[in-house]
Amino acid sequence: MGYKMNTTEKNTDQQVSDTETGEEKKDWGHIKSFVHRSVHMTPKQRKALEGELFQTWCLPYQAEPLNYEKVFGRSAPTVLEIGFGMGETSAKIAHTSTDKNFIGVEVFSGGVGALLNRIDEESIPNIRIIQHDAVDVVNNMLAPNSLDGVHIYFPDPWPKKRHHKRRLVQSPFIKQLVSRLKPGGYIHCATDWEDYAMQMMEVLSSEEALQNRFEGFAPRPDYRPLTKFENRGIKLGYGVWDLIFEKK
Ligand SMILES: C[S@@+](CC[C@H](N)C(=O)[O-])C[C@H]1O[C@@H](n2cnc3c(N)ncnc32)[C@H](O)[C@@H]1O
Repeated sequence: MGYKMNTTEKNTDQQVSDTETGEEKKDWGHIKSFVHRSVHMTPKQRKALEGELFQTWCLPYQAEPLNYEKVFGRSAPTVLEIGFGMGETSAKIAHTSTDKNFIGVEVFSGGVGALLNRIDEESIPNIRIIQHDAVDVVNNMLAPNSLDGVHIYFPDPWPKKRHHKRRLVQSPFIKQLVSRLKPGGYIHCATDWEDYAMQMMEVLSSEEALQNRFEGFAPRPDYRPLTKFENRGIKLGYGVWDLIFEKK
């Protein structure tokens, strides 16, 4: 069993039964991997969301493929991050990998506000944010064979069995995601939930267009920094599993 970082705290909030939310719609083509919650936002996060920072760094959702060169003003390898949370990892990675463009997708307003403030305070020019369901973004806003990498770090584990259908890493979505990768592009997932790690391994291994860059789970690469929650968990002896697969 993985350690309980903010992931778990968040999921405690999110463990709303389908009948409670009225969302049991049997829409198998579209994973509903999050629940809209009215969450507290700090005044600073709200200000970022409602002001110039949002206008500068956020891209509106559109149902047609983005032109990365136009959006970033340069031609560079482009990496998608799904569900960046508060954006701690996203900011650190983009700060270090200045040669790459990063597109962060997140639905949670507080997190979008927090990453906007990091971008501003740390002067990070190579991230753009899309506040929208990543499933729609992948399906409609990213061109086939266009991405160099995808990061999915600590996706909501949806620990209850009846909620497993809400997990992001499932075959139909991964297939769609892989179609957006260039050959040689990678998918990097990390989780602190052992059974989700096993599911990820099964799903990624069974995708014909992918090959594992490692034999089994990957060592955490230097570019993925340890978050404070992960560090706390590791000190308590809990596990974290990284998986890095490449498109053939
Ligand atoms: C458990 S948090 C992990 C955040 C961050 N990656 C980290 O490592 O701390 C998962 C995040 O994914 C976001 N999320 C879940 N499903 C999503 C979706 N379909 N589209 C965009 N964001 C999503 C949630 O709002 C949440 O902030």
